[in-house]
Formats: sequence, structure tokens, C-alpha cells
Amino acid sequence: MTELLDTLLTELEQFGKANDGATTERPRRMLNITRDTGEFLAVLIRATLARRVLEIGTSNGYSTLWLASAARAIGGAVTTVELSDYKIGLAKATFGRSGLGACISLVQDDAGRVLRRSADSVYDLVFLDSERPEYPGWWPDLRRALRPGGLMVVDNATSHPAEMAPFVALVSADVEFVTSLVPVGNGEFLAVKTDQGWSDRT
Ligand SMILES: C[S@@+](CC[C@H](N)C(=O)[O-])C[C@H]1O[C@@H](n2cnc3c(N)ncnc32)[C@H](O)[C@@H]1O
Repeated sequence: MTELLDTLLTELEQFGKANDGATTERPRRMLNITRDTGEFLAVLIRATLARRVLEIGTSNGYSTLWLASAARAIGGAVTTVELSDYKIGLAKATFGRSGLGACISLVQDDAGRVLRRSADSVYDLVFLDSERPEYPGWWPDLRRALRPGGLMVVDNATSHPAEMAPFVALVSADVEFVTSLVPVGNGEFLAVKTDQGWSDRT
């Protein structure tokens, strides 16, 4: 990681902590992932050579920086989706300062609409960090947009277990997916799409 990026990440961590401690208004909170979650995501991207990364829920771009710096190191890029005007403005400022702008596509839209428009098997890794009650409705398109062998990572699996339960149950019951709950940060729910053709041969 460059010094510039490390300094920016540290600044965003301090801002997020101060900001979220000062307001209970959800649209104004940054709700960033923890640093150890960022490190975990970077390891997953590098280990799985996930070059086509989709993030749902940009906020001010903190998690995107972790995804994008790992993706860039392996020749990949990140598409990140955010609905709020306020957060889009903050994310643009973050990306402009990061030196990672060339490998980040910031899309202002509703994530459900973006997922519906996504082609089949187009992403190697999807990081889901948005409005949890929406996830079950997004699942048909999430599973379709992930390539066989692709990985979905969902934040807040241990911090908000009740809200996550319907989605975790849905994905866990899907025979095409193998899942794991990883106790890093706020809890990451991982689901890998199996390649049926491969498992048939083994
Ligand atoms: C938990 S925050 C994301 C935090 C970010 N991943 C990070 O760690 O820095 C969730 C974000 O999802 C956005 N969001 C909520 N509903 C959305 C939707 N339907 N489509 C796209 N973005 C949405 C919110 O505006 C908010 O910024």
C-alpha cells in the first residue's frame, strides 16, 4: 500500500468515527467497514484473482479504496453503486484524492436496478454492504451476476444477525452455494458459487 493511500484511509477512519459518533441520522452516517475487514477483502481479492469486483453501498468510498487497491494490483477494477447524492459527492472527493480513480467506476443508481441490468456471470466478487432488508429481493440477480466460482461477501453478519437472518437462510439453502460466517470486523458472510461442471468431474 502506498503512503498516500494509507494516510487517506487513516483520515477516513478518523472522520467516520467522529461523524458517526455525532449523528444518529442514518443517511448522514458513513457506516464504514472496519480496517481488518478491508484487509480481509484485499486478501480475498488477491487470493482469488477477482478482477471484476462489484460493491453495493459506497458511502464515502472507504471500503472501495480497499477493494480497488487490491483489484488494481492484479489488473482488475471495481464498480461501486451508491444512491445518495450526499454520499456520491463524498465518494467522488475520496476517489479524486486516492490515485485509484482509473480503476473505480462510481455508479449513482438504485442497486436493485443495477443488479437487474447486470449480465450473467459478470462479476468475480460482489461486496454487499447496503440496506439489509433489500438483500433477499436482490438475491436472484446477485446469484445470476456472479460467475461460477465467484464469491459474495456480505458485511454486518454478526453485528446485525436478526436483520441478516432471512438472507443468510436463503443463500445457505441454495444448493449452488457454499457458505461460511467469518468473525472479522462486523462479521462477514461468505458465499461461493460452485461450478457444477467442475464438481461433477471430481
Ligand atoms: C453501510 S453504508 C456503505 C459503507 C461502505 N461500504 C464503507 O464501508 O465505506 C451503505 C450505503 O448504501 C447506500 N444505499 C442504501 N440503499 C441503496 C440502494 N438501494 N442502492 C444503492 N445504494 C444504497 C447508502 O446510501 C449507504 O451509503
